[in-house]
Amino acid sequence: MKIIEVKNYQEMSQRAAEYMIEKIKSTPNLTLGLATGGTPLGVYQHLIEDHKQNGTSYAEVTSFNLDEYIGLAKDNPNSYYSYMYENLFKHINISPERTHIPSGMNKDLQAECEEYENKIEQHLGIDLQILGIGSNGHIGFNEPGTSFQAKTHVVDLAQSTREANARFFNSLDEVPTQAITMGIQTIFKSKEILLLVSGKAKQNAMIQLLTGDVTESFPASILKQHPNATIIADEEAMLGVKDNSLFK
Ligand code: PGA
Repeated sequence: MKIIEVKNYQEMSQRAAEYMIEKIKSTPNLTLGLATGGTPLGVYQHLIEDHKQNGTSYAEVTSFNLDEYIGLAKDNPNSYYSYMYENLFKHINISPERTHIPSGMNKDLQAECEEYENKIEQHLGIDLQILGIGSNGHIGFNEPGTSFQAKTHVVDLAQSTREANARFFNSLDEVPTQAITMGIQTIFKSKEILLLVSGKAKQNAMIQLLTGDVTESFPASILKQHPNATIIADEEAMLGVKDNSLFK
C-alpha cells in the first residue's frame, strides 16, 4: 500500500482528480468505482472544472457506486443517486445508462444485490475504485465484522455511521438504518484502489489502518493486502500516525 501525504483537503482532492483524469485520458472506456460522502466532493469539483476547461470526455466511461441507502427513492435529496447526479453526473458528459448505483427501493433486495454484483463482473470488474474511510474503518458501508469474502449485500448501518451521516439529514431519525453496499470482496477485486483520507476525524482510523493487523473488525485493513492500493492522506489525518510510537 503506497501512501502519499499531502498538505490538506484541497491538495488531496487535486492529486486524486489529476490521477483520475490521466487514467481516463489513457483509457477512455475506464470502469470507475465511485464513492459518496464528504471526502470525494472536492475531487468531483476538480473533475467538473477540468471537463469544462479541457474537455476531458466521460462518454465511454462506466461507473459503479459503492453503496446506496435502503428506502430512499432516487429523487430523495439524501439518496446517493441524487448526490452523484448533483455533484458530478449532471456536470459531465457521462451517459446515464453507463452509471450504476444499487437501488435501495427494490422490493427484492437480494436480487438487487446479485444483479449489481453480476453487472460489475460483466464489465470485467472495476479498473479504479475511489474510497473514503469511516472513522470505524468501514469501506463502502462494510461495517466492522463484515466478512472479507462478502459480495454486494444488505447491511445494518453502525450507529456511529448513522451519527456521522446525520449531518446531511434534518435529524438522526431520518438517517436510514440499512444500505446496500458492494462487499469487501467486490471492492478488493478492483484493479486499482485510491483511498482518500482527510481531517482530524480520521486520525484514529489512520493509526489503526497503518499500525494494526489485517482484521475483519477493521474492514479497511484488507487494503494492505491489495496489490495496487494507494492512500492519499492529508497532514491532519496523518498527525496521530506521526505521534504513534510505532512510527518514530
Ligand atoms: P466521509 O465518509 O467522506 O463523509 O467522511 C467516508 C465514509 O464513511 O466512508
